[in-house]
Amino acid sequence: MSALITEETKQQSTPAFENTAEYADSMDAKDPLASFRDEFHFPVVPETATHRKPGSKSIYLCGNSLGLQPQNTDKYVTEELAKWRKYGVEGHFPDVNPEHPWVAADEDARDDMAAIVGAKPVEVAIMNTLTVNLHLLLCAFYRPTATRFKILMEGKAFPSDKFAIGSQITHHGYDAKEGIIEVWAREGETTIRTEDIEKIIAERGSEIAVVMFSGIQYYTGQLFEMGRITKAAHAQGCKVGFDLAHAVGNAPLKLNEWGCDFACWCTYKYLNSGPGGIAGAFVHERYANTPHEEFPGRLVGWWGHRKSDRFEMNHQFIPSPGAQAFMHSNPPVLCVASLRASTEVFMRAGLQNMRTKSVLLTQYLEHLINTELGPEHVKSITPTDVNQRGAQLSLVFTKDIVAVHTAISEQGVICDVRKPSVMRIAPTPLYNSFRDVWDFVALLKTMLLKN
Ligand SMILES: Cc1ncc(COP(=O)(O)O)c(C=O)c1O
Repeated sequence: MSALITEETKQQSTPAFENTAEYADSMDAKDPLASFRDEFHFPVVPETATHRKPGSKSIYLCGNSLGLQPQNTDKYVTEELAKWRKYGVEGHFPDVNPEHPWVAADEDARDDMAAIVGAKPVEVAIMNTLTVNLHLLLCAFYRPTATRFKILMEGKAFPSDKFAIGSQITHHGYDAKEGIIEVWAREGETTIRTEDIEKIIAERGSEIAVVMFSGIQYYTGQLFEMGRITKAAHAQGCKVGFDLAHAVGNAPLKLNEWGCDFACWCTYKYLNSGPGGIAGAFVHERYANTPHEEFPGRLVGWWGHRKSDRFEMNHQFIPSPGAQAFMHSNPPVLCVASLRASTEVFMRAGLQNMRTKSVLLTQYLEHLINTELGPEHVKSITPTDVNQRGAQLSLVFTKDIVAVHTAISEQGVICDVRKPSVMRIAPTPLYNSFRDVWDFVALLKTMLLKN
């Protein structure tokens, strides 16, 4: 894998791929991450399948929606259940439960998570779920005034983000229609140009309180230039936040370096923490010691109070340093255990190794889609530049997408469709193989030519 295209080399040419199953197998044979596939549970091919062996591993290309279960999850969660049986309430304390005491459960996955998002541990909190964190961070960072109350976001943002932002604006007594400024792709284009985002910020920055974008666009798979967006927004005095649902565990992130004010993400997609798993929040270190009075909108709870005297039960809130001041409740231990089982795999695999394989795997998918099928059947609307995407390609078909999806699902391919017209295909570096990608395109070809 040494001659791979990497983020560092910034080369844009596509490697000389071959269109055979043997070639895909040869790529798997030299993949240093290949063995990680065995560390995950796979749904199996249905009994009624005719083109793939029933009962064998399905081709799971849906890590953009819900990641597969690591084999270790069972053990990590079961360990906590056993401790609960054995210790009861005393499991909270390090003298009884020295490994992962529940009183510090949120800290267990925090350092790994900080590495994954390019942050310092003080900048990260493991808490709640994504939309809840988005609201809580906006409560603190969205401080509208009569002249600056607008929020800039993607026109085609994920609905929950649109709802959260709209309701934050009305919560403050402003009109959501007036308060949201949307950025759209240009006529005839599917992804948003960074210069168009910068232009709106430069022209209307004085009206904008917060610039809020996703890291990776859920529908098109576009990886936004978060450093550039942050710089443009800060130059106009706007706060900047990112929803990293589709970027975390998928694309390289440098939140501390980029300097955005806040970010939030879920962990059940590429981070494989399980359905509805616990989410993450980032608050830049420049706020690590900001006095609580300077965050008049921040909503707080006892778990955000500094650790040293949290159990004194005083009524004066003294914030923990950094992002942990934004926590409310004691951490859900079973969810954190499940997240730990996943981040541990990430740390062993290595983030750069994963990105290197991910770039290549998705390039292989793109190559096969273009050469085996071509635009008369299907085309990708995801950027072709590897630096502007993660694992996902968003495919648009000339035939009825639901019929295509049903046909491949019956043969044990798992991927999703997002309305109006996109099938999202996300080969992930931890559990997908080059052979998965070859088999997926071969099956797609059979089904498209047949129907
Ligand atoms: C971009 C984006 N934002 C927000 C959400 C909502 O996440 P949750 O239901 O965990 O709040 C999702 C869920 O898939 C998402 O993809």
